This record gives sequence, C-alpha cells and structure tokens, in this order.
Amino acid sequence: MDTRNPVTINRLDYQPTDWLIDHVSLQFELDPTATLVTSELTLSRNPAAGQESNGPGPGLTLQGSDCELRSVSLDGVKLAPEDYQLSATELHIAQLPEHCVLVIVTCINPESNTALEGLYRSSGNFCTQCEAEGFRKITYYLDRPDVLSVFDVTITADVATCPVMLANGNRVSHEVLEGGRHRVQWHDPHPKPSYLFALVAGDLAHIEDHFTTASGRKVLLQIYVEAHNIDRCDFAMSSLKASMRWDEEVYGLEYDLDCFMIVAVDDFNMGAMENKGLNVFNSRFVLADAQSATDTDYMGVEAVIAHEYFHNWTGNRITCRDWFQLSLKEGLTVFRDQSFSSDRHSATVKRIEDVRLLRARQFAEDSGPMAHPIRPDSYIEINNFYTLTVYEKGAEVIRMLHTLLGPVKWRQAMDVYVERHDGTATTCDAFVDAMQTVADVDLTQFRRWYSTAGTPEVRVSEEYDSQNARFHLTLSQSCPDTPGQSDKLPLHIPVVMGLLDQQGNSLSLSNGRALAAAVDSSQTDAQRGVLLDLTEASQTFTFEGVDAAPVVSLLRGFSAPVKLVHDVTDETLAFLMANDPDTFNRWEAGQRLATRLILGVLQEGRINADTLASLGQAWGLILADDSLDMAFKAEALSLPTIDTLEGSLEQVDYQALIAAHAMVSTALAEKHAEALCVLVTETRQAGVALLDPAAMSGRKLANTALALLTWLPESLWGPLAAAQYAAADNMTDRIAALAALCHGDSAARQDCLDDFHAKAIGNRLVMDKWFAVQATSRRSSIVEDVAALLQHADFEAGNPNRLRSLVASFALNNPGGFHAANGQGYRFLADQVIALDSRNPQVAARLVSPLGHWKRLAGPARDLMRQELVRIRDSGPLSPDVFELVSKALQ
Ligand code: PHE
Ligand code: ZN
Repeated sequence: MDTRNPVTINRLDYQPTDWLIDHVSLQFELDPTATLVTSELTLSRNPAAGQESNGPGPGLTLQGSDCELRSVSLDGVKLAPEDYQLSATELHIAQLPEHCVLVIVTCINPESNTALEGLYRSSGNFCTQCEAEGFRKITYYLDRPDVLSVFDVTITADVATCPVMLANGNRVSHEVLEGGRHRVQWHDPHPKPSYLFALVAGDLAHIEDHFTTASGRKVLLQIYVEAHNIDRCDFAMSSLKASMRWDEEVYGLEYDLDCFMIVAVDDFNMGAMENKGLNVFNSRFVLADAQSATDTDYMGVEAVIAHEYFHNWTGNRITCRDWFQLSLKEGLTVFRDQSFSSDRHSATVKRIEDVRLLRARQFAEDSGPMAHPIRPDSYIEINNFYTLTVYEKGAEVIRMLHTLLGPVKWRQAMDVYVERHDGTATTCDAFVDAMQTVADVDLTQFRRWYSTAGTPEVRVSEEYDSQNARFHLTLSQSCPDTPGQSDKLPLHIPVVMGLLDQQGNSLSLSNGRALAAAVDSSQTDAQRGVLLDLTEASQTFTFEGVDAAPVVSLLRGFSAPVKLVHDVTDETLAFLMANDPDTFNRWEAGQRLATRLILGVLQEGRINADTLASLGQAWGLILADDSLDMAFKAEALSLPTIDTLEGSLEQVDYQALIAAHAMVSTALAEKHAEALCVLVTETRQAGVALLDPAAMSGRKLANTALALLTWLPESLWGPLAAAQYAAADNMTDRIAALAALCHGDSAARQDCLDDFHAKAIGNRLVMDKWFAVQATSRRSSIVEDVAALLQHADFEAGNPNRLRSLVASFALNNPGGFHAANGQGYRFLADQVIALDSRNPQVAARLVSPLGHWKRLAGPARDLMRQELVRIRDSGPLSPDVFELVSKALQ
C-alpha cells in the first residue's frame, strides 16, 4: 500500500458483496520458499447485492497481496492476462457468468514472511495467521468476514519435515505419495469466513484427551507442540476441558466438531487465534510447568484457552459482518472469559485485576490520539484496532448489559442472540436488538456506548435533609472531547450503590432497582444495594426514611467504565475500606485514599500526614485481619500504578509523579516494614500442590510485601530476596525475588541473573522473563542496560515475544526509565519502531502507542516525545500500521 495516499475505510460505506463463494477447495504444495496454492472457488451472484437490471452483471474483485499469481481459469478455461486486471492488492475480472468456478494458482514464500501474517514458518514448521486480512497473502479471495464458505483443504508435503499436517474441521483422507511426500485432506462442514482458515504442518508432538459433550458426543482433544515441550501441556488441556464444560453449563453451548486442536507456536504476533477447530496459540499461553510459569502465567493460559474456545460460538458460529463490528465477538468473548475465571477463582480479585488493566491502559487509550468507540467509525489499518477499547471496554459494555438485564434475562437474551444469528455474520446493533427482546429497560440510549469514544466522568454530590429523613444523591455525567467527537450525548450508566449507617450497617433503600443475588452469596438485599439508571446529564436520586447522614458506596463492582469524582473525607474512605459489604469497593476506597496521597505530594511537595495516617492505619487493619483472602490483601496493599494515576491528571510531569509515588510507597513500607518482612517469610505454604488456591494467594501476598520492601534500603530486604531466590521451588517466587534484586546493585543481583540465565537456556519463555525482569528495574542506568541487552546473544528482534519482553516491558512497565528526563527512553523506543517496521508492521505499530501521549506531557518531555514521532514519520516509507498511529498522534 502506498502510505502517501493511505485509504481510510468508513463504517457507513458497508455494502454487501456482489458475489458469494459457496464452496472453496484449497490445495497446498508446501515448500519453505515456494509453496503453490491452488484455490477453486464456486461462485454465484449474491441475491442480496444491488441489482443492475439487464446489465452484464458486476465484475469480481478479489483481494491479494504478496502472492505471485501463476494462473487464473474460469469454468475450465485459462484466462489470458488481458482477461483480468492485476494490481498490487487486487485481482479484477470484469465479466463472469452468474454461477461459475474460478481456479486461481498462486505461489508464496513462507520463509521470507517476517510479518507473521498469512502462511509463515516458525521454528521450521508451517503455520498460518489470517485474522484480520492475512488470507489475502495466501491467495486472491473475497477476504472479508461476511463471505462465509465451506472449505475443503488438501495439503501435500514431505513426510520427513512435515509428518503432521492440520487444517480446520475433520480429517477425511491421508495418502502416501512417491518421492517422500504425503497428502491429507480436511473438510470443515461449518461455513466460515477466510479469517478463520488455518493450516499447520511440521514436526510436532501432541497430547490428547477426550471430552464428552452434554448431549453425549465424544470429542477428540489434541494439543500440538514441539517435542521438547510435550511435558508442559497438561494444564492447557485441563483448562480446555473446564472451558468446554463451563460453556455448556452457563450458556448451554456445546462443541460442534469431532475434534478440537490447539497448536503452540513460538513466533506469533498476538496471544492466540480462534481458527475453527484449530486454534493457533502463542506458546506462552499454552506451555506451563512449575519451573517455567508463574501463577499469573497459569491464570493467563487458562483465560486465553477459555477465550479462544468460547469464540467457537461468539465469533465463529456467529461472526462479524465487517471489521467495525469487531467488539461483537471480542468484547463479548472477553466478558465470557472474565466470567469463567471469576467462577473458578476469587471473583473480587479477578474484578480488581480487570479494572486495574482497564484503568491503566484503556483509559489512557481513551484520552489519547487513538481514542475510538468500541465500534470504530473508520480505520486505515484494521490491525491497529485490536485495542484495549474494543476488547476490554467492549467487555465492560457487555457487563453493563448483563447488569441491566440481570443474570436470568441475560441468559435468555443470549439464547435469542444465538438462535437468531447462528451461522451468520452480524452486527453490534443486532446483538443489542436480541438483548432488547428480553430486557425490561429500553436500550435505545444504551446503544450510545457503541458510538461514543472517551471515558465518561460522573460527578457526585450529596445532601442530607435531617428534617425529612431524606438523602439526595446527585449524579452528573460528562464525556471529554476526543478526536472527531465533541458535545457528546449522555449515556445510560448503570450505577450500583448502597448506603451505610455510621455503624457500617446497610440501609434498605426506597429508590433504585433490586439486584439479583449471586448464587453463592450470603448477602442480604440491603447489603447488595440497588441499581440506579443514570440517563440524564444530571439526575438527583432521593432516598426516604434515612434517619442519619449515611455513607455512600457508589459504583459497586465497578458497574460502569467511568471516572467517579466524589469528594469525601479521608475518614469516609477509611470507613469504606473497613466496612463496605462490596469487597471491590473496599479495595477501591483504599486506591482512592492512596491516589489522594500521591497527588497531594505533587501539589504540595510533601506528604499529607493526616491522609498518610488514615491509609497507614487502614493498612494496619488489613495486615492484621486473618479473615481476609490473602490475594485480596495483596491487592489492597498495592498502590495504584503510574499509568493509572496519570489518568487523573490534565498534564503529566512523569518525573514528579514517579517521585511522589516513590515517596508514598517508601512511607508506607517504612510504617509496616516489620509486618511486611513477616509476610515475606511466613506466608508461603510448604507441601501443598502448586496450584492450590491458598498457596497461590499466599505467594501473591508474600511477593507484594517483598515488592513494597524494595522501597527501603536494600540491607533490609536484600538477604530475604536472595534467600527466597535460592529456596524457590516455583517460578512465581523465583522471579519475584529476582525482580526485587534487579532494582539494586548487589552481588546477589548479578549472581541470580547469571543463575537464572543458565537455567533459561533451552526454554524461550523463561529466557523472555530474564529480559523482562531487567527491563523493568528501577536502576538509574536502565536505558543503557536495556540498550546493552539488545546486543545480547539471546536477544532476537524477529521473535515478537522476545522483542516485547525487552522493548515493550521497558516502554510500558518502566515509567521511570521510559520517561527519563533527557528523552533517551523515547529515542530508544523510536529506534526500535523504525528498525522493526519493514519486518513486522503489526508488532512495530504496537510499540508506537507509548509515544502517542506527548500532548499530555508537561515540560520539555512533551517536545522530546513529539520529536521522536516526527523522526519515525520522516524515517522513510512506513507501513500503513505505523503510518496511521504516527500521523494520528501528530495531528
Ligand atoms: N482474534 C484473536 C483473539 O482475540 C486475536 C487475534 C487478532 C489474533 C488478530 C491474531 C490476529 O482471540
Ligand atoms: Zn478474541
């Protein structure tokens, strides 16, 4: 594509295709540098397309790029070059009969495919990645999600190098050929768009198991990996079985093919891909064992396995009409995987983790140059729209629908959605239509969430009328301007809330809608609180029969993705930390108190002693409370991160913010140093299973305590960390100890790094950690350290995981280093983007976003960051991916 003249695609320009592909038969002759692809398309005019009366009928335009066209035949007759038009991105045939068969032969080079889109090689094996528009790098096709077709796939390759050959659906034949080749045939009975096509071939080992569906069908489950990883797949397999069961129990959705396959590959741009019956995964979301995976990694494997599996219904059986509807499958599927994880583990802790991510990263996106609604209106490069907004905010929008409908109606509405749209490509509007058939509430205004960018703000004011025993709560909403959007209309915001008396008892409320009880909850109606529908710009809710001024608990469970502005006293926050029956809001009150403390340092240059005393005391209560889940305690003892704090500032002076955050962290660590040391040494449980929930929570708490202690002189915690490293029998404790040591400059730091490196040889995922742990250290030499690591023999710029472990870890998780006052961190990142763009545009583009926020920076940093964007822009011809992000950031 010519980036001097990039094409913007608009949502409202959607037109159905003129042609349908009723059937496609693909033949692959695999060869590392010259794979031949023969595609036979059975075409017919689309009855739904705009009709031109009596004309010759519309021509056919197929998308294709980076593939060499060898021949085209129409109904058995080879076309001459003058019978079609070929450009760098399209093949156009002007005249075709209403029903016809087109055979296209292309030749592609998997070996030279460094963008990892289309057919490529990873560790010598062949694999594909087609979402969103990778199929066109394999053959010319109607490469769009609303063209659904039945696929038959034949693969021929060398027996020696490709003993395993996989594609979607069921394997229907296998034959051994002459010359050391063999051939398999796959048939997928479910019509699907090209983005769900997959092929994998190579020398792979596998484990297998079975799952019997609710209706009694036996499904073969297989996980394919390189032979040396075969012992690391068991957890993924049990996660898969749990996901299959959960989707049956919670949504009544059963698997629909005879086999389900997962393949792990080391070179992958994203997390994983839901290709029909043949999911392809980044190996980091499949491989896990005690020596290589942290508890967080295990949870990640479980969640991503579930996510991709859940796509079989929300994504594959029901797919997107066009890419603007991406959140239709992604927001819904993220919501489903979040619910799955929260059913299996602590629901509150899961919610806290999800909200942390949303605030730290999605809120930033919403306040930057790329702000877009969960259903965007335009794009240049669709790969740039696999965003936190489409995924995470998209899931929040689904969660709000779940809250507005309540669990019972939600399930009924999902049944309607599946019933109506199974086997089709549809839209977000159609999804809300399905919800509306069941909902009591009118969802007209709610639809604005799909078209509004930016994070809404809700301001709160309270008024207690003692004479009439009435409490008035006024909620006012607004949403900041974002690129291309101003003067936004009010949204329908579900606000879950409760009132407490001064003793911490929940009041019965005379206003608001009742909430359904969770199945396992022992809470009373009053403790659960009520749901308020905030729909106006400003609205006052009055509660009768309130005998004394109450304490308000608002936005329980984070019932809407908004910023709440509610001016309450330190005492009220400390009170909520101790008394709110909504555990999420107990955590939230602590975060607000900590935020106040840190932002106070920014304004006043010193710590507010009273606020520190309140928070310090509240922490003391938490530390002493043995009834609390240790994972929850860990969350309560974790301060808001820099990227979350940044969200509440207009202009950000990062160095000052980082200093303020450090000052508060140090003060709190000092206050509780003794208790924290005890946690580090005494919370771990010996002799229990690695994934025992209490053991996992214990590690989380102990390692949170250790991280806090690193704000104090190393003499206090260094020996503890070194001892923990030496004694660790699992990766969670080992890496946490190493991370602590990496902040300092001790001999133990280097010894442990060397030891870790030696043990990492032969395990790529562990080696990634070795890079990441150094990239996130608070050492003052960090930029030089990271630059030196780029030159390390084990650094591989061509492997996305390795690149991210060093470069993205630094840019996203090391604010002190990235925002170094002299702009070195920005320059480093820009250099990486420039170097990578010609090899892998998709991954290069993901590295641009930390540079996009220059307008929000204060002081010289603002210009230093902007200069780096300009340098990228002027560095030569850019990919559309990087071009779009850089040009939007500079606008
Ligand atoms: N559809 C994948 C998922 O979220 C993500 C993905 C997008 C993977 C594009 C590869 C390419 O499950
Ligand atoms: Zn997904």
